[in-house]
This record gives sequence, C-alpha cells and structure tokens, in this order.
Amino acid sequence: MLHLIFEYGHLNTTDTALCQFFGTKLGVSMMSSKYIRLDQQLYDYILASSLRESPVLAQLRAETATLPMAVMQIAPEQGQFMALLIKLMGARRAVEVGVYTGYSALAVAEALPDDGLLVACDINAETTAIAQRYWRQAELAHKIDLRLAPAAQTLRALLSDGQAESFDFAFIDADKTAYGEYYELCLALLRPGGLLVVDNVLWGGAVVDEATDDDDTRAIQEFNAQLRVDRRVDLSLLPLADGLSLIRKC
Ligand SMILES: C[S@@+](CC[C@H](N)C(=O)[O-])C[C@H]1O[C@@H](n2cnc3c(N)ncnc32)[C@H](O)[C@@H]1O
Repeated sequence: MLHLIFEYGHLNTTDTALCQFFGTKLGVSMMSSKYIRLDQQLYDYILASSLRESPVLAQLRAETATLPMAVMQIAPEQGQFMALLIKLMGARRAVEVGVYTGYSALAVAEALPDDGLLVACDINAETTAIAQRYWRQAELAHKIDLRLAPAAQTLRALLSDGQAESFDFAFIDADKTAYGEYYELCLALLRPGGLLVVDNVLWGGAVVDEATDDDDTRAIQEFNAQLRVDRRVDLSLLPLADGLSLIRKC
C-alpha cells in the first residue's frame, strides 16, 4: 500500500483517474464507478488477450468487413461468449433470428455437439448464400437448418409442429420493431431453464434518449422496459458489444 502511495505521490491527487486507481487498489470508496469506459486500445487488448476465433470465423469476418452492411455482424468476442454459454449449458437445440452472413450461426454451430441443431431464420437469400458457403467450409452445415422466410412465420411453424419447449438456446438479432414478437415466440420454444440472448439492447447508446422518434430505438426501449418486469424470466443486461440481454426461462 505504502509503495503505491510513494510511487504516485508526485502526482496531483485530485486527478480523477488517480483517485479511481487508489480507490480500487486500497478498497476505499473514493469513487463509485462500477464500470470502465472502453476505447480502441483497450478493446484491441481484450481481443488480443482473449479471442480464440477459428480460422473459418476469422475468414468470414474478413469477407463480411468488405460489405456495405458489415456493421450488422456481431462482434467476435460476443460470438465467443455465446459459444461459451452454449457449452456451459450443454445446449443441443438452438434457434437464431437474424443470420446475415452467418457469423453468429457459425459460432453457435461450432459450440454445439455434432448431433446438435441450429434453426437459423432469415429472409435474405443473397447474404445467407455467403453464410452457407462458410458453414460448408467449416464442415458444420449439417448442424444448421436455414429457413428463408419471415422469422415470425418460421417460429410459429416450429410451435405448430409440436416443438414448444424443445429448444435450449435462442438468439434474437433481426428487425428491432419485431423484438417483442420474437421474444414471445422464442420463449414458447425454449424449455424451462433455457436461455434467450437478445442483441443490440443498448442500440449504440441511443436507448437513453427518451425523446427519440426513431422506431427501432423506441422498440428496443419498450422491449427493455417490458423485460425488466417480466417475472417469467431471470435477466441480466450485459454491456458487451452493443448490449446483450441474457434471459433465462424460469
Ligand atoms: C443484424 S443482422 C444479423 C447478424 C448476424 N446475427 C451475424 O452474426 O452476422 C439482421 C438480419 O435479420 C434479417 N431480417 C430482417 N428482418 C427479418 C425478418 N422479418 N425475418 C427474418 N430475418 C430478418 C436481415 O436479413 C439480416 O440478415
């Protein structure tokens, strides 16, 4: 402790960062921040020190980066986090709403057992053709059942087909104004104890703008507010990537 005080004693102790540093190191409540702000350098450090992306995922990410809508792809550390959740749960059956070029689907498929299944919903034949190419390259296409139709239609068809409460894991990452509907359908498809992960729940930070008239932002705000009081589930909102809600069906 003394070593720390002497080492930094020449600095101005009103410096906010220093107060935060000593507050943390010495266990005193000089500052009350419970979070840290990410910048590019720290983000790069996180990836450099923890990302274990497979070569096919890395190649898919590089190709997607050349597309105009590349921003739609999930972050690589998010894919790795979802894969960890799948393995922790021992999940076998998963459903995804919003495939794009297939990065999240591939991350999930890599983590599922060889006889596992991911039902992947999207409406775009062009971008999912890229996805399918990479799933084949990874030799994981046999685990992924791509359904090219509006996702609500596919999810309803699964329910009508007697597959209610038969999925372990669900991921929602598509049109934001339909999040409420996807949530109810995925919840019905999940078994008790199953996990639903919902992407973009911080929407680049726009969710704090109460006066917004943007439809997507309002939809996410309403979704988050309803989720907060939904006693059918356990909930945790993580500030990972663009905000990720982890929702466990009770
Ligand atoms: C944000 S991207 C998904 C990104 C993907 N999870 C990844 O890791 O790259 C959203 C996707 O939702 C799809 N989508 C939009 N509306 C849809 C709908 N009604 N039904 C199914 N998919 C839809 C879009 O075609 C797009 O590919």
